[in-house]
Amino acid sequence: MTSLRLTESSSAGRDLTPQQLVELAHRSHAVITEHQHVDGAYPASPTFSAYRGYAWLRDGSFTAEGISRYGDVESADRYHDWVSRVLGARRAQVDALLADVARGVEVPLDRMLPTRFTFDGLDGSDPWWDFQTDGYGTWLWSLVAHAKRHERDLPRWLPGIEVAVDFISAFWDLPCYDWWEEHVEHRHVSTLGAVAGGLREIAASGLLDEERATRARAASTGAAALALRDGVTDGHLVKWLGSDAVDGSLPSCVVPFRLAEPGSPLATATLAKVAADLDVDGGVHRFRADVFYGGGQWLLLSALLGWNLVAAGDRDGAMRHLQWVADHATSTGELPEQVPDHLLHPDARAEWVERWGEVATPLLWSHGMYLILADELGLLDGPGA
Ligand code: BGC
Repeated sequence: MTSLRLTESSSAGRDLTPQQLVELAHRSHAVITEHQHVDGAYPASPTFSAYRGYAWLRDGSFTAEGISRYGDVESADRYHDWVSRVLGARRAQVDALLADVARGVEVPLDRMLPTRFTFDGLDGSDPWWDFQTDGYGTWLWSLVAHAKRHERDLPRWLPGIEVAVDFISAFWDLPCYDWWEEHVEHRHVSTLGAVAGGLREIAASGLLDEERATRARAASTGAAALALRDGVTDGHLVKWLGSDAVDGSLPSCVVPFRLAEPGSPLATATLAKVAADLDVDGGVHRFRADVFYGGGQWLLLSALLGWNLVAAGDRDGAMRHLQWVADHATSTGELPEQVPDHLLHPDARAEWVERWGEVATPLLWSHGMYLILADELGLLDGPGA
């Protein structure tokens, strides 16, 4: 149960059969790969006005993890090839930033690497909330996980890896926009978690030269230490340093980024607080003050919490989230970004529909997270798969 007040009656919900859940996994794979750009990018949402034509490292790297777990090695390889090419082409830009840092010059945010890229690797001409470091860490984590799972050779992606490592090792401690592209004035715990996790994994891979590995390890340790020192209130992780609220992205600091070890008191308290404040009937809100499209429940956050519950040994709890996500597929098997069953700020919804149209559907990140949770629950390798 939840402490939240329902503003609308929530859907009764129905349980899908194991076969239907498996079919939705196949459908998710089809939706993602149908829309994968020929050069390898996973578009965030092919039809949604504000996202059309762009790929985010955050969305794409979680999506690639789902595709890698599904077993489509070629599609995941192509995504990582794309990222490596796109970041490799930013070598000179990052070298110039590092040179300024070495000279003690403060780098303005508009010179940083972007949050999202056009499919040909450019910044694009639409203004965006650029400067978010989490996607770079998430990509490093996703790439190492894929390479380990399918015995891929990491050196293939070295140009992009080196740029990502250099960029976030230099700038991880600056305030930046969060997962939701908000609050550039704060340092966000989920962002620090992604940076710490990604740098730790790539440093441990043995691929980096010694000097770079040392920098990556120092930044990873520094980001983790800062988050654990100033990002904990009442025994649980919080949205940003000094805050006392939680955010639906925080479970990622347990699984997969391991800022808090699964099963530790910090992990357990964080998952419990996120569930108490943000989970309504299996759907998870981003944060209590969220007004975007009225502040609905996000499918990918429900899957993220479910993934964490598997790691905590609660398979029934995880299955509840998988069922909730599956129950919100459209009649054609597409997964939206969020649903309005339960809105935190219903009055704010109309202005977003007017501004950007109906909620992004399909959102490839929702499909990628469904694949991850389906895999965690053994649905991708069962007899019906
Ligand atoms: C979300 C981001 C996401 C982007 C693309 C934004 O509305 O806040 O987390 O990366 O959409 O899906």
